[in-house]
Amino acid sequence: MDMDTELKNKVLGIMSRVLKINEDGVKISVIGGGFTGASKYLLETEGKRLFLKVADSRNSSVDASLVAYEAEIYQFLEKVGLTEILFPRYEKLIDEDGVKILIIDYLSDVTWGGPWNIETIEKLDVALEKLHSKKVSDIDLDEIEKISGEVLTLLGQELHPKKLNKEEMSKKNKPFFDAWDKKKCGFTNSDGEVYFAGNRNFAEVIVEETMKDFDEEDKVLTMHDLNFANICFSEKQAYFVDPLFLRMGYADRDRAVVGVNILQQLGKSANQELRKMVIDKYITNKMVLASLIKYYVTTTARKMDSGSKSFQKFHQECAEVALELFRDWDFDRK
Ligand SMILES: Nc1ncnc2c1ncn2[C@@H]1O[C@H](COP(=O)(O)OP(=O)(O)O)[C@@H](O)[C@H]1O
Ligand SMILES: [Mg+2]
Repeated sequence: MDMDTELKNKVLGIMSRVLKINEDGVKISVIGGGFTGASKYLLETEGKRLFLKVADSRNSSVDASLVAYEAEIYQFLEKVGLTEILFPRYEKLIDEDGVKILIIDYLSDVTWGGPWNIETIEKLDVALEKLHSKKVSDIDLDEIEKISGEVLTLLGQELHPKKLNKEEMSKKNKPFFDAWDKKKCGFTNSDGEVYFAGNRNFAEVIVEETMKDFDEEDKVLTMHDLNFANICFSEKQAYFVDPLFLRMGYADRDRAVVGVNILQQLGKSANQELRKMVIDKYITNKMVLASLIKYYVTTTARKMDSGSKSFQKFHQECAEVALELFRDWDFDRK
């Protein structure tokens, strides 16, 4: 039996025991999509539909830890009153023999990651506002900082990168400046093609914009990871799932990430009214946009294996969208 089938059977066994229902009365089907290594299932019993995110620590200890952390974040969201109204209802985490199962409600009758139109763009705006305006007490703040810090440590990243001196800073900016082709005045992708021409000092202007200081006081609860597979729409509203990267951060960043992605997906032939609406609601901070550009440009330039081609194409298109927005910043805001 292959590993996937074995895990699925194991989960079926555990769940029927937990729910005290005969295995025949429980149906489990695999759900694809998403970006982590965990397995995802829809579990159906009489009158109940649950979404399960599962990882076995014996096969992947990191994935299993991440499932457990996601459960901690759902508990946090439940405590501050954001489950059910913005995230799915959280049921519990099961840990049996190292098999970790995060159980949340299955969201039925929803569409994932679009379609992008006036209604969904408005619903998403309301959902982001709900998250970003949530009052966070000092205790809650400590709690979420602790969890998000641990998640990032597990992934080898830092929650609060230390202030860099000049030398460290220029080292950090090097991949970005390396992507800039001085002769052609444009950025290059990993195949060496130039994809966006601008002014001679365009790269410097962008980096300068990213250096502006942000006020820690402005931090709010943010999703951080707002890839479209984490956003869905019901008749009435938008919901978020997969809050693994939930953290204190800047509302403008959450907005810019989805704004750029929506414009990328709408494409060049986008309806101008819709485009204007996305810019007004989502592209709200120039410095945040500049930071995103740095991220997209450097990932587009990085040499990667061929499997990452579509990922890189997506990043290049996002870079183009963001660069255009940056270039036309004053014009768009007239
Ligand atoms: N609560 C849910 N109800 C229904 N479908 C869901 C739910 N959560 C996630 N999904 C589906 O599973 C996909 C991946 O889920 P996600 O939690 O984002 O996984 P990953 O951690 O791999 O990114 C989503 O894009 C969506 O299609
Ligand atoms: Mg996801």
